[in-house]
Amino acid sequence: MTESFQSLEKIPRHVALIMDGNGRWAQERGLPRIEGHKEGAQSVRAVLRAAAKAGVEFITVYAFSTENWKRPPQEVDGLMKLLVSSLNAYEQELHDNKIRLRIMGQFERLPLPVRLRLQKTLDATRHYTDHTFIIALSYGSRTEIAEATKRIAEKVKAGELDPKKIDEQTVADHLYLPDVPDPELMIRTSGELRLSNFMLWQLSYSEFHITDTYWPDFREEQFFQALEAFNGRDRRYGGVKK
Ligand code: IPE
Ligand code: IPE
Ligand code: MG
Repeated sequence: MTESFQSLEKIPRHVALIMDGNGRWAQERGLPRIEGHKEGAQSVRAVLRAAAKAGVEFITVYAFSTENWKRPPQEVDGLMKLLVSSLNAYEQELHDNKIRLRIMGQFERLPLPVRLRLQKTLDATRHYTDHTFIIALSYGSRTEIAEATKRIAEKVKAGELDPKKIDEQTVADHLYLPDVPDPELMIRTSGELRLSNFMLWQLSYSEFHITDTYWPDFREEQFFQALEAFNGRDRRYGGVKK
């Protein structure tokens, strides 16, 4: 499989993934939804390994949206506990592959034990520069843009910023992770054709790869297929074909 990644001409620097279909995967097997989430955690691990192998610098996974707080409390609680147990189980792999963990979203809204556990790994991996693993947690793109707008307005009010100088870069600089490049490729599993409030600004010119595969079945082979599809795309950015 390593050979296959090497055969690809273009490797995106940043791949963002909407991990969807855990519930349906479990339902089809007569299992509780949380079993789908657990199996999905294994897919995250597989994709991180594959990305490191392929040379992808940034991987962002949509793990929990601002809208997901609406789910039944036991599912929300199960997801938060799974996050903690996954960190405990896989932190060593982050070190082995020199992967820096980052969080994108409303960190303060997460339960305290989750924040404390995350903070430990954020600090322990802060110095790695080769690869970055971003977990979108309590993330919503509209909230992110509204928050950015608020901070820009505060700077204008304080006289630190001239409103005439506000441009696209100003907005980008006030998003959660301004130093991270936009994803070149966005993958959504389980066949849904929507963004569900994910990185609306950053995905403006990204290539989309939608697969019917449920997230728990998305592993190295499926990741390779997505990169292969990306290699077949002609990115014109509003220009004309060369
Ligand atoms: C994705 O799987 C995981 C989260 C959104 C947390 P779902 O839980 O949305 O699974 P489906 O879409 O119900 O199958
Ligand atoms: C999107 O999946 C959010 C995450 C993957 C975390 P959802 O299952 O919540 O999205 P909808 O409800 O199908 O739009
Ligand atoms: Mg879903």
